[in-house]
Amino acid sequence: MESCAGERGRAERRPGLFLFLLPLFCPALGEQIRYRIPEEMPTGSVVGNLAKDLGFSVQELPTRKLRVSSEKPYFTVSAESGDLLVSSRLDREEICGKNPTCALEFEAVAENPLNFYHVNVEIEDINDHTPKFTQNSFELQISESAQPGTRFILGSAHDADIGSNTLQSYQLSLSDHFSLTNKEKSDGSKYPELVLKTPLDREKQKSYHLTLTALDFGAPPLSSTAQIRVLVTDANDNAPVFSQDVYRVRLSENVYPGTTVLQVTATDQDEGVNAEITFSFSEASQITQFDLNSNTGEITVLNVLDFEEVKEYSIVLEARDGGGMIAQCTVEVEVIDENDNVPEVIFQSLPNLIMEDAELGTHIALLKVRDKDSKHNGEVTCKLEGDVPFKILTSSRNTYKLVTDAVLDREQNPEYNITITVTDRGKPPLSSSSSITLHIGDVNDNAPVFSQPSYIVYVSENNPPGASISQVSASDPDLGPNGQVSYSIVASDLEPRELSSYVSVSAQSGMVFAQRAFDHEQLRSFELTLQARDHGSPALSANVSLRVLVNDRNDNAPRVLYPVLGPDGSALFDMVPRAAEPGYLVTKVVAVDADSGQNAWLSYHVLQASEP
Ligand SMILES: *[C@@H]1O[C@H](CO)[C@@H](O)[C@H](O)[C@H]1NC(C)=O
Ligand SMILES: *[C@@H]1O[C@H](CO)[C@@H](O)[C@H](O)[C@H]1NC(C)=O
Repeated sequence: MESCAGERGRAERRPGLFLFLLPLFCPALGEQIRYRIPEEMPTGSVVGNLAKDLGFSVQELPTRKLRVSSEKPYFTVSAESGDLLVSSRLDREEICGKNPTCALEFEAVAENPLNFYHVNVEIEDINDHTPKFTQNSFELQISESAQPGTRFILGSAHDADIGSNTLQSYQLSLSDHFSLTNKEKSDGSKYPELVLKTPLDREKQKSYHLTLTALDFGAPPLSSTAQIRVLVTDANDNAPVFSQDVYRVRLSENVYPGTTVLQVTATDQDEGVNAEITFSFSEASQITQFDLNSNTGEITVLNVLDFEEVKEYSIVLEARDGGGMIAQCTVEVEVIDENDNVPEVIFQSLPNLIMEDAELGTHIALLKVRDKDSKHNGEVTCKLEGDVPFKILTSSRNTYKLVTDAVLDREQNPEYNITITVTDRGKPPLSSSSSITLHIGDVNDNAPVFSQPSYIVYVSENNPPGASISQVSASDPDLGPNGQVSYSIVASDLEPRELSSYVSVSAQSGMVFAQRAFDHEQLRSFELTLQARDHGSPALSANVSLRVLVNDRNDNAPRVLYPVLGPDGSALFDMVPRAAEPGYLVTKVVAVDADSGQNAWLSYHVLQASEP
């Protein structure tokens, strides 16, 4: 990842403040914005115009709702200007301790559309700490028999700054007998060693006062002093001698209190009490984690060590013989990390829901992964559990993006439980899981569907006006108004002006009503096109045809066309010859019936014949 993060567009914005934009040929990472500011800038200071650096216009600002997503709110984004502002104290020493580089990494979140941008703000050290000795004065006993060149470790000072702002050098006040050398521990920190230049004579001078100065190379440099009192002791014995000047030991964190760290040994060439050696921690070493057996020189663990708190201890031990002669050695304890912290995953910037029409790759949430252990023990892999239409992409170190990886359909899956498991590479590995429920928002993506492809209704004529003759229904699986359906008649083969006097449909229920009594003799059938329309925006609709067939009823009596009947309903036949033979055709009767089918089939009968 780092290989991508070259410094191409480097625009100086003001002293000590730079903007680096990621080269365009590295699109997988998205945009990465870098700033550099000195620590301890006052709250409200402008780091840079984040909105502009992300390419947002001033008009876009209100809708994009640019903000910072981070566990600790060191920065905010001004809603008016899009400036990235310092919002809490930035103490480099508190944030990064002795790390040579100190950068705050976080994600900026923009909405509409949701997008994450990686921001890196490098915090530069300023010289805001003075080197400080643990004590104002130290006392040192040196035998008058000590040879020129003999060395004595002095108490050291601490400076929380880094680089040239941290303690760089010790200096000694002018002296004929003593000089000073600057030594370095394995962790790079400096400590002073006093060197005897010329022999001491207790009978001439019993003690010396020296001033030790610790200083850094900041601009301006800061310094402090400690007083050294050297007491010259009588040369009646030999000083003890440690078997090593420096003891180094590696110790796993979490070893039980009481565990032996190591045993130092010292010898003394004298006899009797002058050879009786007792061990102690030097005044300059402030030790709470270890215990020392003053007789045997065995160092044991007093309190549980925590690699995540302190990675290395440097202890100055003294061996003192019965005559008061002292020797010193250094014990360096390197703490070894154990896989004792479980990795964690935290969801950030999680929306309430995501719409079902979200494009592939839509950003859903940020995942922050944490493991306090170091190296393999703190290297974490992040896995999405189960078969879900999402995937995780690396955003920056220990930050991942959750994005969509398939088409979503609320009608099939209205919510997903998303479980992320993080596992470190320790032996054995530790892991933990975290779950969230993501709700899928509805989009009007389903048109209503009628329960039948078409409808046919039979209605007997002379129906009462207002009678319901049929009901159509359509379903729509969308949610709320998107799934709410209304019915209407959109076309028919009736005269448009007359339509409403024949039929109507209830918008809510789809019930179809006859508006008048149908008369089969005028109207045999008609066809309607009904529409179901949802209340989405834009709305979706479907059409269906409804054919109404009007059935005949026997509501017309036959009517005699010939012979013409008189007012009393009878016809008079006076033209029949007197001698008419049987079978003589008297007349033909012709009758009609307005009904249809069997209702119009006529049969004739003679009911009565009478003579006038
Ligand atoms: C998600 O988890 C909750 C709580 O465990 C459960 O009630 C729900 O049914 C789950 N939903 C799905 C889609 O699995
Ligand atoms: C339904 O019918 C109306 C009227 O004929 C027509 O304008 C509309 O396009 C049709 N809609 C569908 C979905 O077929």
